[in-house]
Amino acid sequence: MPVSDPAAAPGAPAEGAASHAPAFRPGLEGVPATQSAICDIDGRQGHLTYRGYDAAILAAQSTFLETAYLLIWGELPTALQLRDFEHEVQMHRRVSFRIRDMMKSFPAQGHPMDALQASAASLGLFYSRRALDNPEYIYGAVVRLLAKIPTMVAAFQLIRKGQDPIQPRDDLPYAANFLYMLTEREPDPLAARIFDACLIIHAEHSLNASTFSARVTASTLTDPYAVVASAVGTLAGPLHGGANEDVLAMLEAIGSEDQVAPWLDRAIAERQKIMGFGHREYKVKDPRAVILQRLAEQLFDRFGHDPLYDLARKVEEVAASRLGPKGIYPNVDFYSGLVYRKLGIPRDLFTPIFAIARTAGWLAHWKEQLGANRIFRPSQIYTGAVPREWTPLEAR
Ligand code: ACO
Repeated sequence: MPVSDPAAAPGAPAEGAASHAPAFRPGLEGVPATQSAICDIDGRQGHLTYRGYDAAILAAQSTFLETAYLLIWGELPTALQLRDFEHEVQMHRRVSFRIRDMMKSFPAQGHPMDALQASAASLGLFYSRRALDNPEYIYGAVVRLLAKIPTMVAAFQLIRKGQDPIQPRDDLPYAANFLYMLTEREPDPLAARIFDACLIIHAEHSLNASTFSARVTASTLTDPYAVVASAVGTLAGPLHGGANEDVLAMLEAIGSEDQVAPWLDRAIAERQKIMGFGHREYKVKDPRAVILQRLAEQLFDRFGHDPLYDLARKVEEVAASRLGPKGIYPNVDFYSGLVYRKLGIPRDLFTPIFAIARTAGWLAHWKEQLGANRIFRPSQIYTGAVPREWTPLEAR
């Protein structure tokens, strides 16, 4: 007996459900699971705000750490607050040699998202969880996670190549330091600025799958490292953060502009999902894709063109006639890979970089959840066997 009909009218009871039971919505589509004052999405206009500020303005004017402060504490910091916050984050960038040694035992061919999830969770072994009602504890945990996640991503990149991690450079700002730790070269200021803007626009996006995961984990009053580790694991999937890797693979598989239409038509006929397209909230082009496209063009102007970008634009143009009528347009993952590729970042680090940025949003939701906590415990619609008799092994 089917228990749900995804095509049923919103609010209609699922087939088989008693009329007084709440309707089952696969993927909780349209079901408010929390109240939040952090981020607002207008999916029809393609508008995204963090704490009331336009994310596009923040990407152009703010820095990632200033935006993280805004997301987590609700207001833009004063100059003094920002200076202290940046200083604290800078002071906590190093990770324990024990964590580095643990990372050295990870398989080199393992995915960096798995390495990040394990490393983030291991922070809980080092720092106590017992003071969730103490603002200083919250501040310290926020600082530590924002500071150490990039160091762990960069460390695994070098460790898997058989090299020792590069120590953070205290004189470099957040984004520049991360790029430095990856390459041991101080990045070009434009590259660092563009990377920082990428972090800003990936920092928060309301109750997406990984943030929901973070809030569910937070609601048990576990430690913030478990909160971030659970969110990292959720972000890793190809329907969520992992799509940015797949977009470049798709562009390479298409190969040339004349292949775009036949490739898309075949994929759509086979009911494949086109990676980097579609979004539960946006029925227009994701505003973050618009910003990323602009950032990609700035990079190409400065450091040379990427022919995959022409192919991507062609895919967007052809897909508009095939998928546009269903409200399916490029999402944040469609152009981000092209930006990171131009910055020389390996493909399987794209999603860990997403995680570096989204740590700010996860922490904002962690703090908000603690402020009005009730453990998440939804109900279910049981579809299993009716009560039946136990059969002994020899009688089966
Ligand atoms: N390509 C082709 N068709 C699509 C796509 C796509 N990328 N996305 C949605 N559709 C179609 C579905 O086939 C479905 O069609 P149907 O009604 O004829 O069956 C309809 O649109 C609704 O799709 P759902 O999968 O139900 O939409 P949902 O809101 O559950 O999924 C999601 C959203 C997961 C992002 C989806 O669009 C997708 O899989 N996209 C590709 C992966 C991707 O780019 N993920 C990154 C999202 S952004 C982020 O998480 C950071």
